[in-house]
Amino acid sequence: MRPALKTCFVVNYIAIMEYKMKVDEPSLSMDNYHLILEPCWELVCKVFDNYLDTHMDCPINLADFGTCEGQTFLPFLKLVVGHIRRSSKLQEIVVTLNDQYTNDFNALTRNIKAFQREMDDPLLRMCIIPGNAYRHCLPNSSIDLGICSFVVQWLSEPINLDKHLFYIPDWMDFLIARSMEMKKGSFFLANIPIGSQEVLSILNDVFHQLYEKNTITEEDLRNTSIPIYIFRTEDELKGPFEERREELGLQLLHISRRPVKLYEHKGIVSSLKSWMYYSFETGLSKTRRTQEVQEICDTYFQNLEHRFSDWKWLDVFIADVLFQKL
Ligand SMILES: C[S@@+](CC[C@H](N)C(=O)[O-])C[C@H]1O[C@@H](n2cnc3c(N)ncnc32)[C@H](O)[C@@H]1O
Repeated sequence: MRPALKTCFVVNYIAIMEYKMKVDEPSLSMDNYHLILEPCWELVCKVFDNYLDTHMDCPINLADFGTCEGQTFLPFLKLVVGHIRRSSKLQEIVVTLNDQYTNDFNALTRNIKAFQREMDDPLLRMCIIPGNAYRHCLPNSSIDLGICSFVVQWLSEPINLDKHLFYIPDWMDFLIARSMEMKKGSFFLANIPIGSQEVLSILNDVFHQLYEKNTITEEDLRNTSIPIYIFRTEDELKGPFEERREELGLQLLHISRRPVKLYEHKGIVSSLKSWMYYSFETGLSKTRRTQEVQEICDTYFQNLEHRFSDWKWLDVFIADVLFQKL
């Protein structure tokens, strides 16, 4: 029984579906623009420039899915707006920011307000549409340029990977939803993290040690999991474009992988904590009081500090996937 349980945390993604930042942590503070979106600027410009030339007479709709507090997307948006304004001063630009219902929309609203003040552009409109990005959430045929960075690693459904190792429908669901929302000829960029087995093993081992030391029970172990999937292969990402191209009406224009140093200068454990804590809290709270949950979490993250004390960053890859609506 024990070896099977040991894989519970990493392999069996069950029970918890929501992603939620722990807002009082010095969070992952999603200011990962330089790491995630800036390197894609030329790629986006190359295709979007021609599109803009033929869409001068209508508002331009930009969208970011899973925007969190907007810190990664807004600097990118600044570039896009500046770019559009160079050729078109009077075109309305409508920006939609999405995240799931548990997001801190107050923080996002504050950031939007500051951004609009800084941009001082009366034709720049910004709105928020909360919702599950794996479902259709923006109006049909509305998007001209869509972005989604570091989101689709969060699974939408509880999935037991033991049984569904090779089938995770989320990527396909995501593409079906975007296909409905994108205008003909429009573009979408998704940046998808691809992580290391070593890091997940450490996170898993340290959690399992709490069980070995009787700090948590078998039930806690079963209740606590994090629904992320960070091992997508290039073939998996390409699959829908090749196998269901007609049905989706989407064409893959670019896919590549680049290495990044995640959480460098940010504190590895506090960054991990910002996205792991909520899942732990939810799992452990099923059988324990708040105070106990807090203590167990503190112990877990202190142990992680020890394990990562020599690490300066986490090595991960980002897959940049650019596609177009036919
Ligand atoms: C790691 S953060 C990335 C935030 C931002 N895109 C960035 O690049 O900095 C992941 C974000 O995805 C959001 N998210 C997770 N699952 C989602 C879903 N099904 N629909 C919409 N947003 C989701 C989370 O709430 C969170 O804000």
